[in-house]
Amino acid sequence: MKKIVILGSTGSIGTQTLDVVRQNLDLFEVVALTCAGREDAMLRQADEFGVPLKNCYTCNGSYDENVLKLIEAATLDCDLVVNGLMGMVGLEPTYHALKSGHDVALANKETLVAGGSVIMELIREKGLKLLPIDSEHSAIFQCLEGNKGRKIKKILLTCSGGPFRGLKRQDMAEVTAKEALKHPKWNMGPKITIDSATLMNKGLEVIEAKWLFGTEPEKIKVLIHPQSIVHSGVEFMDNSILCQMGVPDMRIPISLALGYPDRLDNPDDELDLFTTGSDLTFTEPDTETFKCLGLAYHAISEGGSCPVVMNAANEVLVDMFLKDRVGFLEFQDKLCELVYAHDTIADLSLEDIIMIDRETREKLTYKA
Ligand SMILES: NC(=O)c1ccc[n+]([C@@H]2O[C@H](COP(=O)([O-])OP(=O)(O)OC[C@H]3O[C@@H](n4cnc5c(N)ncnc54)[C@H](OP(=O)(O)O)[C@@H]3O)[C@@H](O)[C@H]2O)c1
Repeated sequence: MKKIVILGSTGSIGTQTLDVVRQNLDLFEVVALTCAGREDAMLRQADEFGVPLKNCYTCNGSYDENVLKLIEAATLDCDLVVNGLMGMVGLEPTYHALKSGHDVALANKETLVAGGSVIMELIREKGLKLLPIDSEHSAIFQCLEGNKGRKIKKILLTCSGGPFRGLKRQDMAEVTAKEALKHPKWNMGPKITIDSATLMNKGLEVIEAKWLFGTEPEKIKVLIHPQSIVHSGVEFMDNSILCQMGVPDMRIPISLALGYPDRLDNPDDELDLFTTGSDLTFTEPDTETFKCLGLAYHAISEGGSCPVVMNAANEVLVDMFLKDRVGFLEFQDKLCELVYAHDTIADLSLEDIIMIDRETREKLTYKA
């Protein structure tokens, strides 16, 4: 039995992780759960999966109190920590899970966007596994299996294009949070859904891919692929391209991360290429309209504090947009202004990253 801790068990990734566990009760034992506000839902999960109540953490206090509880959960005795938390709050629990010698299945992309250098150094030092749950990174991870050491020409990172694909800037002036929350392909938590509407999600994924696979950002190419069947791929030096395909269901990459190195049975979700295969398209992203994608390339080429600031400011501004306190274009413009004006600080420790994240949030909250 693999013992797993699930951070953020009540969210979209957390509940789908438990769906995978439910179908494989002979393989996994859930030893701890965490939530923020949805305590009742977490307690129902604890009852169903037999998780001791002392290992169920409700993180609805201050940032620091929440982080302490998450670290406690992430360092309990287990074989794998699944990080399905939303936002920067996921960084420290990932760090401490690794410090305790645990492999981590990571959905929380903000961990690598803000703390990629620190986390990857720890992975190398400890020889642990960081298994990607994000469907694109899971696809790339699978394409690279069996190709260790082979030269990569490009990473091909696919993107559905979000709910506003094909629109121009002027078409999005009146966009509401309700409209931006309607993703055409994936049913996800609110923050990542807004990130998908601005293409910031793809920008965060470029940064995540840089850290996970050690690939320079210039070699990471984004392709708009509205069908979300090809989940990403790798082009090698001989011009061979390997891609991974499947129906758009997060339970597939989650099951790969949970079962790794094995593949688990999946009774649902078969991809029928006869019905979908003739309809696969790939186009260039419109970075003039969707400025956040270019912003993320800028942030990672700057490195150091720049992605930390971008990530923190994006979290604050997305939250304000969800609360109707700032317009859709206005918040992206503010974000670009702030990040392009930032004076980058290099070589950050974990403590520096946390401090820069906090300062950025304070500045924005004060101005707001
Ligand atoms: N959803 C997807 O399909 C998907 C796909 C790829 C990558 N990801 C990434 O996976 C991560 C999670 O996304 P999601 O869509 O699952 O998010 P979500 O549905 O909003 O769930 C977030 C989880 O974290 C908890 N949480 C939120 N804020 C917290 C805080 N300050 N302290 C402690 N716990 C907190 C939530 O608790 P409550 O439920 O109690 O609020 C919930 O359990 C994100 O980084 C996202 O980018 C998601």
